[in-house]
Amino acid sequence: MQYIMKGGNPLVGEVHISGAKNAALGILAAAVMTDESVTIDNLPDVNDINVMLDALTEIGVVVDRIDAHTVKINGGNIHTVHVDNEYIRRMRAGYYLIGALLGKYSHAEVALPGGCDIGSRPIDQHLKGFRALSATTRVEYGMVIADARHLRGGHVFMDMVSVGATINVMLAAVLADGNTIIENAAKEPHVVDVANMLNSMGARVRGAGTDVIRIRGVSHLHGTEYSIIPDQIEAGTFMFAAAVTRGDVTVKNVIPKHMEAISSKLIEMGCEIVEMDDTIRVVGRPRLESCNVKTLPYPGFPTDMQPQMGVALVLAHGTGVITESIFENRFKYVGELAKMGAQIKVEGNVAVVYGTDRLTGADLVAPDLRAGAALVLAGLAAEGITTIDDIHYILRGYEAFDEKLRGLGAVIETVENAREARKFRLQVV
Ligand code: EPZ
Repeated sequence: MQYIMKGGNPLVGEVHISGAKNAALGILAAAVMTDESVTIDNLPDVNDINVMLDALTEIGVVVDRIDAHTVKINGGNIHTVHVDNEYIRRMRAGYYLIGALLGKYSHAEVALPGGCDIGSRPIDQHLKGFRALSATTRVEYGMVIADARHLRGGHVFMDMVSVGATINVMLAAVLADGNTIIENAAKEPHVVDVANMLNSMGARVRGAGTDVIRIRGVSHLHGTEYSIIPDQIEAGTFMFAAAVTRGDVTVKNVIPKHMEAISSKLIEMGCEIVEMDDTIRVVGRPRLESCNVKTLPYPGFPTDMQPQMGVALVLAHGTGVITESIFENRFKYVGELAKMGAQIKVEGNVAVVYGTDRLTGADLVAPDLRAGAALVLAGLAAEGITTIDDIHYILRGYEAFDEKLRGLGAVIETVENAREARKFRLQVV
């Protein structure tokens, strides 16, 4: 399966943004912490979510998919705290089940997380946090095992800002005995969303969205109905799609506040941004201006938007410098862009991007989720035909990506084989 596209069309129109994948993954784990039913709405229909739901089903959670974007979950009959299958090993967020099951049952055994190959991605801060809650932790036969005779609130100082560790420790702490303080906590919108969802189940989490989160443990959680926030990164990706194709796109169902770091960079690069209640319109310019960018934890510029920014800088006037400060292996798309005529020089965690007037189509391979999406943007901005292989990475996190792009006028198809690809080529010449 690959994407094939013919670039050159400015993207124009409206696109509806799905629920936030990385919030949803934490929220699904949280949902099993009560024996009562939890209904979750605005769930994105992407592969990572489906893998998580399968993993929940395997341990005895009743998962009732009401429709593509709504699920009812009941964790009242969980029969094992051992979570392991080949799919969960390939994703990152399976680790949220450690926090959720440790909180609920004082014991969890979960396969070591995989996920996109964007760096070494240790989980030492998660384990440190669980130990601060009086749990013991060990890694054995590829499983993370966390165990507590009596889970007690504790004081955790995170050595670095980690979205995953913050959410994971928060999950366990809501059902621990007593008070927990997480310092140097991540402030990402999805951290706040998981906290809000836990609070709607009766948890007492305060301060999410600041760097000190205070949790007062409660004895049990109850059922709830919860709607997930819009996906900041999907929205940002479409905003950059407008910019690099010199289009005019209105992204709908967004929270403009969450988009500020992205919007302000697009303004700096010359785009016009019009914010309304829950929409942002991005009007591209014939020529983008270069800028420098450094990825940082929220509210800084997100690492998950770094490859999309790389593509924009390739098509900008002048030279831009990207400093990737979160993950050490996030420039793998650079070699692919070079096949399209881009000039980028990478030294460690810094990429110097020399702007050019045009990219030309090429046969590319998606190296990971966000880099894959960025290559699609490059293909849509380039002259001629581009193909992208390994799109299973992109499908992990973007719902109906090709369909949403076609809704904006992009000429892009998903093809299964060489015959379908030939047919596309014949149709678009
Ligand atoms: C989450 O990953 C997201 N994944 C990532 O999105 C995102 O890139 C990242 O946060 C940063 O925003 C999910 O939510 C499932 P971190 P996570 O813990 O939680 C280091 C996507 O494309 N660190 O915030 O794994 C780590 O190596 C994905 O949707 C430790 O050293 O990221 C990194 O340098 C890709 N020890 C930094 O902290 C730890 O125990 C931030 O990582 C934990 C993290």
